[in-house]
Amino acid sequence: MFPVVPTYAEPIVITFSHVVAADTPKGRAAEFFKKRAGELTQGKVKVEVYPNSKLYPDREEMSALQLGSVQMLAPSLAKFGPLDINDFEVFDLPFMFNGYEDLHKVTTGPVGRQLLDKLESKGIKGLAYWDNGFKSFSANTPIKTPEDLNGKKMRIQSSKVLEEQMLELKAIPKVTAFSAVYKALQTGVVDGTENPISNFYTQKMYEVQKYLTVTEHGYLGYAVIVNKKFWEGLPADIRTQLETAMQEATDYANKIAKESNDKDLELVKASGKTEVTTLTPEQRAAFKKILAPVHEKMASRIGANTVDAVQKAVGFTK
Ligand code: LMR
Repeated sequence: MFPVVPTYAEPIVITFSHVVAADTPKGRAAEFFKKRAGELTQGKVKVEVYPNSKLYPDREEMSALQLGSVQMLAPSLAKFGPLDINDFEVFDLPFMFNGYEDLHKVTTGPVGRQLLDKLESKGIKGLAYWDNGFKSFSANTPIKTPEDLNGKKMRIQSSKVLEEQMLELKAIPKVTAFSAVYKALQTGVVDGTENPISNFYTQKMYEVQKYLTVTEHGYLGYAVIVNKKFWEGLPADIRTQLETAMQEATDYANKIAKESNDKDLELVKASGKTEVTTLTPEQRAAFKKILAPVHEKMASRIGANTVDAVQKAVGFTK
């Protein structure tokens, strides 16, 4: 007789790749998901998180997901254009959202769900939206008026809406992978950038940018996405447990996003390397006015229905 030994099936591995530092809203939420997925499935699922573009930079990560080389990502909503789904660029429209509450009217409601469902035709399942925060401009010269950006080479994510935004400011948009931004700023390939403070701080952009102006002119957040075939092939009970873990991670991400950006703003100031200013309401209004045409110019690219639905959900006023 053979002794009876318990057999343990191999855990299901979810590789979760992302491009930001571990100590950011996305990085922390990914770790939270990892922990809860392990606990709720009693070790049947092992989530491996790879931060800081360690596995793939921006563009490659999308194809890696579609090919099944990784199972989970959380790209910024500005990075879905290369998939030929332009609707997510609605989140890039300048001054569309007046604070996180506005965002949640979209991301936790039917409009947000309909957008995620559009990914299915690309072999991708959209699970949730995670907040980061509102972007600010930085450069090596002070930025107080839209004219201060005239002629500046500004790094953008791969979004046509962001390209148009920079063109309205008479700046020169330069699409750059997130992993290459520090070097591009350091070597002068670009003069400035826009990002939430959490990214500015954790990528040490304060070392290579003399001025940061808190403009909060646009939003940057994420869609958590999985390879659809992988997700639908999971045993139903495990998928349900992972959905719970994702819901908890989403609540966590959206709870820590603001405090994390606020904390990092203080750390940027404390670095003494970047001078931080905040626009007055009048100065901010000047940016809003100059950027207003982006909404109309980009409506047909994004989809007029999507722009309308989001504007209605948040009660957007010009
Ligand atoms: C960026 O490229 O600036 C951001 O999308 C990075 C991120 O994931 O927050």
